[in-house]
Formats: sequence, C-alpha cells, structure tokens
Amino acid sequence: MSSPKPALERVAAVHDVPPGSLKGVTLSNGDKVCLVNADGEIRALGNVCTHQEFAMSDGALIPGGLIECAWHGARFDCRSGAVKRFPATEPLPVYDVRVEHDEIWVGGRVR
Ligand code: FES
Repeated sequence: MSSPKPALERVAAVHDVPPGSLKGVTLSNGDKVCLVNADGEIRALGNVCTHQEFAMSDGALIPGGLIECAWHGARFDCRSGAVKRFPATEPLPVYDVRVEHDEIWVGGRVR
C-alpha cells in the first residue's frame, strides 16, 4: 500500500517572491524549501545545498533557469533540481507546488 500523499500547505504569497527572486520557507514537517520565481513560474526545491548545506535561498536565480549557491557557486536547474555545476554532485529535491490566486502551496517531494 502506498503512503498517503502529503497535504499541500500554504507557505507564502506570490507577491512575497517577485520574479527573479528566491525565498526560503519551512514546511510543517521541518523540510526546508526554496521557492523560486523564474519569469513568473513558481518552483519549489530543497533549500539545503547538497554540497555543504548552505541555504539556497541566499543564492541567486541566474539566466537559464538556474539557481546558484552563494557559498561555492554550485548551480542547479530550478525545474528538475539537477546539478549543473560543481562542486555539488547530488541534485536538490523537488516539491509539488501550486499557485492559487496570490497564494503558494507546497506539498510533498516529487523527486
Ligand atoms: S555549499 Fe553550496 S556550493 Fe558549497
């Protein structure tokens, strides 16, 4: 039997994450999530860099839909979480995310 799908929870308003910005939030289960607004498209990734655990939300969204860690410059695809530049070697988790009206809702990990 598969485990029940985690409920979505409201984590921020869209206007809290303007285009081109990142915002860190914490889910009720303690997971740290980085919200990304890439040209108006909201994404949700793990907020802990897989290199040395720096907060991805302290980094930046750069051209090509990549988020760059502010510490050692690892880059990840903001849609898939895939590593695009060392020194990270493991992808970031990706979370289910929905936008309704001006509200951002995040659910469980999808990857
Ligand atoms: S902690 Fe992110 S690149 Fe090192």
